[in-house]
Amino acid sequence: MDTQLLSARSPADLDAAAGLLLRGGLVAFPTETVYGLGALALEPLAVRAIYAAKGRAATNPLIVHVLGEDEARPLCARWPIEAQELVTRFWPGPLTLVLPRTDRVPDEVTGGGPTVAVRAPSHPAARQLLARVRVPLAAPSANRSEHVSPTTARHVLRDLNGRIDAVLDGGRCPVGIESTVVGLTSAGPRLLRAGAVPRSALEELLGEVPDAAPAGSIAASPGQQKRHYAPAALVRLADATALPRIAADLPGPVGAVIRGDIALPQEVVSVRLPENPAGYARDLYAALRELEDRGCTSICIESVPASPEWDAIRDRLTRAAA
Ligand code: TXA
Ligand code: MG
Repeated sequence: MDTQLLSARSPADLDAAAGLLLRGGLVAFPTETVYGLGALALEPLAVRAIYAAKGRAATNPLIVHVLGEDEARPLCARWPIEAQELVTRFWPGPLTLVLPRTDRVPDEVTGGGPTVAVRAPSHPAARQLLARVRVPLAAPSANRSEHVSPTTARHVLRDLNGRIDAVLDGGRCPVGIESTVVGLTSAGPRLLRAGAVPRSALEELLGEVPDAAPAGSIAASPGQQKRHYAPAALVRLADATALPRIAADLPGPVGAVIRGDIALPQEVVSVRLPENPAGYARDLYAALRELEDRGCTSICIESVPASPEWDAIRDRLTRAAA
């Protein structure tokens, strides 16, 4: 299959993307977090094609993207007060809610489970696409399974060219890491995946939002295996003082992701990221992909501060190094 490159700035291209989706096709599109691989969420065959293109385990459920609350509620069997509060405050935006599902949602989307994940993205291209198709779109991150999430159309093509119908190019994703996933199915709200909305912002609204039960239990997010968000290279985390020695010891070619001034062995290919968490998150996945593209088989990453505003980034780095 030829993968078309469409532009989110062109109304005709947006129409074409919507047309492909409505015929059951696969179209990658930008969201504020990362690019998603979209298909009609209520069409089992279209959803199955997502799993095939990504090489994703059929038991790992997908996030259903909607324009807003009105489109989400028919998919959810309950809409507790916490859902109302979160949606009022954070939608459209990088927050995903996991709620009991209704029977409109096919098993293919939920991995056969009793819940559905819903999110209203804020990216204008995602919203224009949703407004055109007028039905919910299932969309995992548009990478090959277990690879780093894509933050540009070029990243999507690198993983999925020839395997999907089109990619809608809307430039670089402004947030750069995935949405926060909150479960509202059991006793109270649980953080299933740290992400772009910090835990502190959730807790201002809801009180304490503890982590989900450890992986393996039903409450946990199935996609939260230890190794995830990983580049193909071997990844090691180290603080600034240990980094030069570790870089020198790793099997090469070696890449490094740093934040400050660090003197590294000359043969190490380094990418320097912003010191602030928002800038770092925006550029991280592109940096990992760049080092991979430049042939690095090992990547050492300068560890990030232990403070809460780095939580989601630390989560991704720890998984990449697992
Ligand atoms: O920012 C994002 O969330 C991006 C953009 C495209 O929206 N999407 C994304 O999708 O990261 P994906 O499939 O790569 O990650 C979705 C996560 C996985 O960890 C999955 O297991 C979890 O959400 N998830 C989906 N449905 C779930 C459910 N019903 N119960 C628990 N976890 C669920
Ligand atoms: Mg993903």
